[in-house]
Amino acid sequence: MLLEEISVQDLNKLWKIFNQKFTDTGLIKGAFSAPGRVNLIGEHTDYNEGFVLPIAIEKKIIMLGQLRRDRLVQVCDLGYKAETKFSLDNLYPDKKDTWANYLMGVVDEIQKAGYPLQGANLIFTSNIPQRAGLSSSAALEVVTALTMAKLNLLEIEPVKMACLCRRAENNFVGVACGIMDQYISCLGQKNYALFIDCRSNDYEPVPFKNHNYQIVICNSKVQRGLVNSEYNKRKEECKMAAEFFNHKLKREIRALRDVTIDEYKKYQRQLPEVIARRARHVILENYRVQTGVQALRMGNYPAFGQLMIESHKSLKDDYEVSCAELDLLVDLALEQEGVLGARMTGAGFGGCTVNLLKREYVDAFEKTIKQGYKKIAGIIPDIYVTQPAEGAKVLELRG
Ligand code: GLA
Repeated sequence: MLLEEISVQDLNKLWKIFNQKFTDTGLIKGAFSAPGRVNLIGEHTDYNEGFVLPIAIEKKIIMLGQLRRDRLVQVCDLGYKAETKFSLDNLYPDKKDTWANYLMGVVDEIQKAGYPLQGANLIFTSNIPQRAGLSSSAALEVVTALTMAKLNLLEIEPVKMACLCRRAENNFVGVACGIMDQYISCLGQKNYALFIDCRSNDYEPVPFKNHNYQIVICNSKVQRGLVNSEYNKRKEECKMAAEFFNHKLKREIRALRDVTIDEYKKYQRQLPEVIARRARHVILENYRVQTGVQALRMGNYPAFGQLMIESHKSLKDDYEVSCAELDLLVDLALEQEGVLGARMTGAGFGGCTVNLLKREYVDAFEKTIKQGYKKIAGIIPDIYVTQPAEGAKVLELRG
């Protein structure tokens, strides 16, 4: 089913499935959605308390739920035809049904934050590709948080909800991610990218609607197993660099976000070579995000595209989180007419690239990238054309 624009008929079909699975408890019920994301620029900067510029995409998870009178949560994933159940009083990471950890982690964090919960029956369906770096897991966390909050009549404000979902991923799923994915899934805005300050957790919407330009995502369809271990390693390396600068400079350096380019240049040679490169990526990437936001505000899309190209180069050479397939997609893209910028997006080691194109070239781009990538990598990539979409929302609430 296409979920780009969910119609009343689509929702009715989902309710039919829901009603076949569960007996009506007579309590409050509702339908909710949360989108995936693509990051335009600002990669591996969120956990360095820096800046990011993601958009929510037009792919999402829809969850239907009804409150129960007891403390059981029963869930059915329609896509994978998988089911699970757990008690709100007995939450622990599941080694077998690992997908259930996203849901359990979220209800655990809601309860830990002091909110009272009752059990619920839930079903969900998604059109966000999995393991593609488009944050299908953050979307599942966020839609679960929204569903459980609304069914239990709790008002959890969106930034708080994003933080809670991030903690679920950190503590329950065991991935040491930053705040970006959950944040944009909660707070995304139609036609806007969000310029997020990952220290204060404030954001500014940046208009991203121009009839002449289009964001296109290419899915390499590869995912290296390295993502988690290398991600944690980069985090450690950044911490080491921040500690070094904290020691050198006469002010408090809490994270790489606090180091200027000039300070970096002055001391870089005193750092081990690899650590110096990691720090350079983060410091310059933060600068690129801020410059990119100014460019977009002035409608200077070519300047923004150039920053995307520089970002990719830095992720590839300095941060070393790209891979042959992502580099190939970027190289193929940059050979195409009408392409202003191309870069890997998300954690890296596979997943997707994000491209900025002149709109009239989108069809030709799609065709040539598919052919070129298939010829060399032997895989037909998936290509998604998207506008910045809305964040998590209530589709309906009854009773
Ligand atoms: C993953 C993490 C985010 C962020 C990106 C890299 O998507 O979940 O927090 O660190 O990688 O920018």
